[in-house]
Amino acid sequence: MSSARLETKGLSKKFGALEVAREVNFRLEAGARHALIGPNGAGKTTFINLLTGALPPSRGSVLLEGEDVTTLAQAKRVKRGIARTFQINQLFRGLTVLENVCIPVSERMGVGGGMFRAAGRRAEVLDEAMRLIGILRLEDDAGRRIVELPYGRQRLVEIAIALGLAPRVLLLDEPAAGIPSAETHILLDAIASLPRDIAVLIIEHDMDLVFRFAERITVLVSGAIYAEGTPQEIAANRDVRAVYLGGALDA
Ligand SMILES: Nc1ncnc2c1ncn2[C@@H]1O[C@H](COP(=O)(O)OP(=O)(O)OP(=O)(O)O)[C@@H](O)[C@H]1O
Ligand SMILES: [Mg+2]
Repeated sequence: MSSARLETKGLSKKFGALEVAREVNFRLEAGARHALIGPNGAGKTTFINLLTGALPPSRGSVLLEGEDVTTLAQAKRVKRGIARTFQINQLFRGLTVLENVCIPVSERMGVGGGMFRAAGRRAEVLDEAMRLIGILRLEDDAGRRIVELPYGRQRLVEIAIALGLAPRVLLLDEPAAGIPSAETHILLDAIASLPRDIAVLIIEHDMDLVFRFAERITVLVSGAIYAEGTPQEIAANRDVRAVYLGGALDA
């Protein structure tokens, strides 16, 4: 089998006696539109933290395009193309949307990420940042500071920032959380319009969004893969329905 964009082998993590990842063998294929679902506390965020290197595993390995990155520091994995957004957003709140998005873009283009405002004056940085802002339909907010934006809009800025890194893999931890339901279509359109050379893994509790976006779904329960398949297979899986989906899909 050819190498996946991102893969885990026997990935395990313990917090004391609590096993939050159990022998997880997972493949995120090139071009993937993949969702990771499961009940609260199943270990979804922890799994992302293991993929990004925010946490070291207790056992097992993480491979990026076939190369073992298990011991690689988080910042180096970012440079290799693993980008993520957080369940709780982390933005420079006093800076504008454009300034925030210019940071990763200027860093990637090697034009001094430390000096936000100066870096932001470079035409190629500004053009690229505005292109990303456009993907998230944030053009009208480009000059506004983060603190002035509604929370849902802030979450979209986070995605623009992650895209600023030109990632090979994009990991989205509950991107729809806090976005008013009338606006989740902006998020859905944005992630649906991402180029296929970015493999996307999304953690989401909004099943409507999951089933509209994902081409493959993995169900995590108590740190272990409980089921995996196409949306049709997952929706038809009686055990998954009983354990997690409940009545959510019983139309
Ligand atoms: N740093 C930590 N130390 C100890 N326990 C932790 C730590 N981080 C997470 N946990 C525990 O690990 C388990 C999995 O947590 P995690 O946040 O990965 O779940 P989740 O699937 O993302 O849940 P949610 O859907 O609520 O976001 C939980 O029981 C949590 O309390
Ligand atoms: Mg979580």
